[in-house]
Amino acid sequence: MNFGFGQAHAKAHLLGEHSVVYGYPAIIAPLLSLSTKAEVIDSDKTLIETDNFSGTMFQLNYRFSGIYSLLTELLNFFEEPDLTFKLHIKSNIPSKKGLGSSAAYAVAIVKAFCDYFDYHYSDEEVFKIAQISENKNHGRSSGGDTYAVMAEGPIFFDTNKDATILKLDTKAYIVVADSGTAGLTSQAVQLVADNYEKDPETFGNYFKQMGAIAEKGREEIIADDLKDFGRLMTENQNLLAKLGVSTPYLERLIKIALNNGALGAKLTGGGLGGSIVALTDTEAKAAEIKIALNKAGAPESWISKI
Ligand code: PMV
Repeated sequence: MNFGFGQAHAKAHLLGEHSVVYGYPAIIAPLLSLSTKAEVIDSDKTLIETDNFSGTMFQLNYRFSGIYSLLTELLNFFEEPDLTFKLHIKSNIPSKKGLGSSAAYAVAIVKAFCDYFDYHYSDEEVFKIAQISENKNHGRSSGGDTYAVMAEGPIFFDTNKDATILKLDTKAYIVVADSGTAGLTSQAVQLVADNYEKDPETFGNYFKQMGAIAEKGREEIIADDLKDFGRLMTENQNLLAKLGVSTPYLERLIKIALNNGALGAKLTGGGLGGSIVALTDTEAKAAEIKIALNKAGAPESWISKI
């Protein structure tokens, strides 16, 4: 019996979502407690099973065309277009929350097939194939999520689409909280594109400011200057609101995090719902903020050491 296994984790954008689609840098942290695991096993009939889907390739194409395209491409890549298999995926990354669940699915699947075919891959190869479904899901994807869900540490995703793991010695903790509403990444990316097309000067300028914030943020986090890094996160949030991707639900939680001592807070990921991320410099403070966010109605929240 042949068997393959692959996994990937969730991520949270600390700075630079959306502007990253326009070539500016972003800083993205892994959320290692949330992960997606994929297993491929020999079978005489193809069956794909996830937490909310069970069916054939044909049915998959109807419901999740990004994953369907990814599997088709993978089978062609391994020159086994007629392979039949059972693919089982288990994930505790909530979907539509700006936490990279679609990228984690794609990376876990690619790695599982590489393992199944005993193929030794580079991150670049996994990235290239996984981007097939990400581009289909987001309309236009920067690729930042795909690298972040593979990286063991926070990444600086630069304008050349290269991901560098930041070697940090920092006291930083983040609290990520679900706002209780679904994030709509593809709509958010489209909304920003429409706004940019209508007023390229103003929106282009917002992207540029966000890019400068991410560049500055890299220096601050390397220097462990968390007050300044937090201030940059909140500044980034104000620009995301100007792009049109924030919501009253997100803003309410951001305010609660700041009122409870967060050094900075913002939405994270595509927005229009989804999650927020708040920064602190102690685990105890992170726990206080988490309690305050939960009391305010956040259905789920997670603390992660940076
Ligand atoms: O909502 P998520 O977790 O898929 O993050 C999207 C991040 C964007 O910058 C808005 C899009 C992208 O491709 O980078």
